[in-house]
Amino acid sequence: MKTIEQQTLVSFIEPALEHVEDSQLRSALQQALANQEPALRTIESVFEKIGSQNWTETSFKLIFNAWKETHLKMLAIYGLSCRMQRLGLESTNQEQQYLLLLAAAKNAETSYEDLGLDFDGGTHTELYHNLAESFVSDDSWMLQAFSIPEAKAFKTYVYRNMVVAPDIQTGLFTNMFSEIYNHAEYSIAINAFNRLIDEHYDFTPQQKTKATTYIFAHIEDETELNHFTVVIDSLNYYVKAANTTIDYALAQNTFETYLQKLATVFEALDQKIM
Ligand SMILES: [Fe+2]
Ligand SMILES: [Fe+2]
Repeated sequence: MKTIEQQTLVSFIEPALEHVEDSQLRSALQQALANQEPALRTIESVFEKIGSQNWTETSFKLIFNAWKETHLKMLAIYGLSCRMQRLGLESTNQEQQYLLLLAAAKNAETSYEDLGLDFDGGTHTELYHNLAESFVSDDSWMLQAFSIPEAKAFKTYVYRNMVVAPDIQTGLFTNMFSEIYNHAEYSIAINAFNRLIDEHYDFTPQQKTKATTYIFAHIEDETELNHFTVVIDSLNYYVKAANTTIDYALAQNTFETYLQKLATVFEALDQKIM
């Protein structure tokens, strides 16, 4: 009998790292992934679990509430772009102003899809709701009652990193890492949800498409990978404008903390679902 190997997040991240020209940035990413193997394993196993059985209505509400908190960071992206744009508008040096405005614009590019710019205004929030509401009977999954403190804390952590952290690089590392990580996460999530639907539901092809479009939209055309590279562009413009260098230690630290905190969300979720 052929055994199906469990997919790893790293297997989806590694090919993308080859495109990172800056070898120190690439090594910060690789080191962070290696050091946070246990966190990655935790997340992989929770997705594996989600795909393996049918869940109670309450469990699904917890899953969709928590998962949403770890994504959909459009406000934080906007905040980070505003910070760089404000510095640019304040600058009296034309070259510096130009670089800061470019850095802001490149960072903002990561929200085109979320906003539905090329999809008739269909936002990713709408697609996410289609996913959730394919498994639960109403929209109460969005209520506080189904919120997990760890997931809420994660969302706050991401927002503060991008909008409040004293060094703008922290925000750029956070946005950059979330894009590359999300690319991998959606790649394993699509299998989990396909399996869940195929083994436990009688969805019509249309219903299945409606349910999974949110996840699929992030994988097709390598959407998240492109977002990862535009944030690297933004970082390069920013450090040039700020007349500084990339803080690789801060980068690695930010990547590792992101994964650790995210793993606590999945651990907490795992304890609560049945
Ligand atoms: Fe999105
Ligand atoms: Fe993205």
